[in-house]
Amino acid sequence: MKKSVAGLAGAGTLSLVPFQVFADVSEDGFIELRAKETSKNLISEQYPASILWTYNGESPGPEIRAKRGERIKVRLINELSEATSIHWHGIRIENSMDGVAGLTQDPVPPGETFEYDFIVPDAGTYWYHAHTKSWNQVARGLYGPLIIEGDSEDFDAEHDITLVLDDWLLGQDGTLDILSLGSPGDWSHSGRLGNWLTVNGKPPHEVVINAGEAYRLRLMNVSNARSFEIDPNAFDAKILAFDGQATPGAQELGYSPMVLGSAQRVDLLVQPKSGGNFSINELSNGQTYPMVSFKVVGNKEALSGAIALRPNDLPEPDIEKATTFKLHMTGGAMGRIGETTYNGETMSGDDFINFKQFWAMNGVANLPEEPFFRVERNENVIIEIFNDTRFLHAMHMHGHHFRIIERVGVSIDEGQPFKDTFLIGALQTTRIAFVADNPGKWLFHCHMLEHAAAGMTTWFDVK
Ligand code: C2O
Ligand code: CU
Repeated sequence: MKKSVAGLAGAGTLSLVPFQVFADVSEDGFIELRAKETSKNLISEQYPASILWTYNGESPGPEIRAKRGERIKVRLINELSEATSIHWHGIRIENSMDGVAGLTQDPVPPGETFEYDFIVPDAGTYWYHAHTKSWNQVARGLYGPLIIEGDSEDFDAEHDITLVLDDWLLGQDGTLDILSLGSPGDWSHSGRLGNWLTVNGKPPHEVVINAGEAYRLRLMNVSNARSFEIDPNAFDAKILAFDGQATPGAQELGYSPMVLGSAQRVDLLVQPKSGGNFSINELSNGQTYPMVSFKVVGNKEALSGAIALRPNDLPEPDIEKATTFKLHMTGGAMGRIGETTYNGETMSGDDFINFKQFWAMNGVANLPEEPFFRVERNENVIIEIFNDTRFLHAMHMHGHHFRIIERVGVSIDEGQPFKDTFLIGALQTTRIAFVADNPGKWLFHCHMLEHAAAGMTTWFDVK
């Protein structure tokens, strides 16, 4: 039986600064991330601890920070009992460092290490997470924030707040529900939805900020499948960036709630007035749940003046010249799947259940031998995606950011920002465009991690 979000007794705590752990760099210039089991209380000391999988004993793992254009070196040390790898979500990275087990690298076996070494070309809010059996490893806690600063930051450390939002499925005793991981019901429906929300690994708590000062809140959804519904209008927030990429100036949202799908990020600008306490309210379960509260102290007047982030230098797709590739998404409960192949064989009868492959893209469940498409480097590409299923999906492209150029059906009007992950509603068609300027093999998949594992994963090849 599923309990409601926050159905377990909550415990309020107070912190003066938001909880953030920063990565240390070792003598040889590597940040070490040790993937290991760690016991941690997700609710409070009154409940038994959960056995999580963490980087360096923390979930979220340590915040990695670098500047635009810098080189990052990370040594993954696998102390888990299964193989793992790390993906740097949203980074336009060199292909061999993308961390996708089975496509860009071999998974790192228990007891072994792997060295990641890459340049970060863009400023913004990104994250890292396990990309080997992600539905299992991310659900257990293997993720962390990756923040790339612009050359001149408008926000100092005190005014730059990372908020990692997660949704955990806890059992009656208040510990992480392990037995339900991989449940076929989750894989064929909405993915693994939890009943306990945390911000930076903690239950609802309070953060103290100053009136009249400008803060940048970096929200990231690291949950397996929940689309958070947040009301930024409730506290006068403006949008600075989606998925790391700056909007042209701080923008009003103009609609509510703002839906933050799995893996998506949004940077908000808040300039609280004296006495204007507020909280980040989550609405997706039909009730208002304050995930984190902000207590505003002092009575300084807000400064006026525009705040905008300098955009990254992304290649602008040329729609006229672009080649269109169509992607037909099928399957899931209550949906049609049609003829589907998996590992080169046509599935029938009980195969869908036995292999747990409930979804397909262009008639293929999971990584096909041949890519969805092959293009020459710097080609302009449009992907036209038709979601012929009864479910919402959060589609993510590796190695590139794209513009959403058209949506048909349920439209979410946020202009045409660059993104790395977009939501597509049931029976909706969306067209995205990008310049395929990054050579290699890149995944395109649903970031609801059960959907990805159950068939919604394909790839494309840039020569
Ligand atoms: Cu966030 Cu395929 O990844
Ligand atoms: Cu999906």
